[in-house]
Amino acid sequence: MSKAGGYADHAFVADLYNQFPPYRDRADIQFFVGAAKESGGPVLELGCGTGRVLIPTARAGVEVVGLDLSHHMLHVCRARLGDEPENVQSRVQIVEADMRRFELGRAFRLATTPFRPFQHLTTVEDQMSCLTCIHRHLMDDGRLILDIFDPSLEHLVADNVGQEVEAGPEFATPDGRRVVRRSRTVRRDRLNQINHVELIYTVTHPDGREERLVHAFPMRYLFPFEAEHLLARCGFEGEHLYGDFDKSPRRAEYPRELIFVARKAVLA
Ligand SMILES: C[S@@+](CC[C@H](N)C(=O)[O-])C[C@H]1O[C@@H](n2cnc3c(N)ncnc32)[C@H](O)[C@@H]1O
Repeated sequence: MSKAGGYADHAFVADLYNQFPPYRDRADIQFFVGAAKESGGPVLELGCGTGRVLIPTARAGVEVVGLDLSHHMLHVCRARLGDEPENVQSRVQIVEADMRRFELGRAFRLATTPFRPFQHLTTVEDQMSCLTCIHRHLMDDGRLILDIFDPSLEHLVADNVGQEVEAGPEFATPDGRRVVRRSRTVRRDRLNQINHVELIYTVTHPDGREERLVHAFPMRYLFPFEAEHLLARCGFEGEHLYGDFDKSPRRAEYPRELIFVARKAVLA
């Protein structure tokens, strides 16, 4: 059983994460930093990983707490933060915890889940437990930004289970390894809306040795109205639903993001 979407199981996932071009260059940072600045902080980032969004948020002058369950991801995050000026470091607190159950003893103006950590929660019970914790940690005028993908129906019925496909360009690490990433859907559990996925890294070391590393995890998909109802059930009022990080509405073509901005509703 993978922990934290497999991110807690292997150090190699954290090691390669920031070097993989589609992750490194993901076009969401401006969106999340903008929202953090607009909120005025403090911000709670759930599943902050290696600090890809967390560190730019702190650089922009916003106080931010990053929570993640993967020791490996947080190890990389702390190392990267160590290279930042002291004033940036002083705005960040890192907490190793499970986003399904945490108690930080303070409240935030904004909670965020950049790049889909929420989809590593595979049951409605876990989703609700997480959203309830977030709700409890928001100030009365606080907001949540829930970032998930919009599942493509064509992809969900495609006859490609078990097939390895290319997943991103070949890249090199600073210590001279060359890495090719491929992916495959191992199993589709349509009953529970879970795809069992493997990200397969073939690493060629400078001495020519080849290594095959597999990051395996279940990924829960949510349909747009399902997510809307889930948020309402956990005490959030929808404010915006964007289809991309440029704040454009959902469009007909895939791939599509589902970016919910929801306000904390005061529960009766
Ligand atoms: C795709 S990464 C996103 C990391 C970061 N937010 C970013 O945008 O680069 C997903 C992250 O969610 C974290 N995660 C998964 N399940 C979690 C849980 N139950 N509690 C806290 N973090 C979790 C993983 O450890 C991983 O760092």
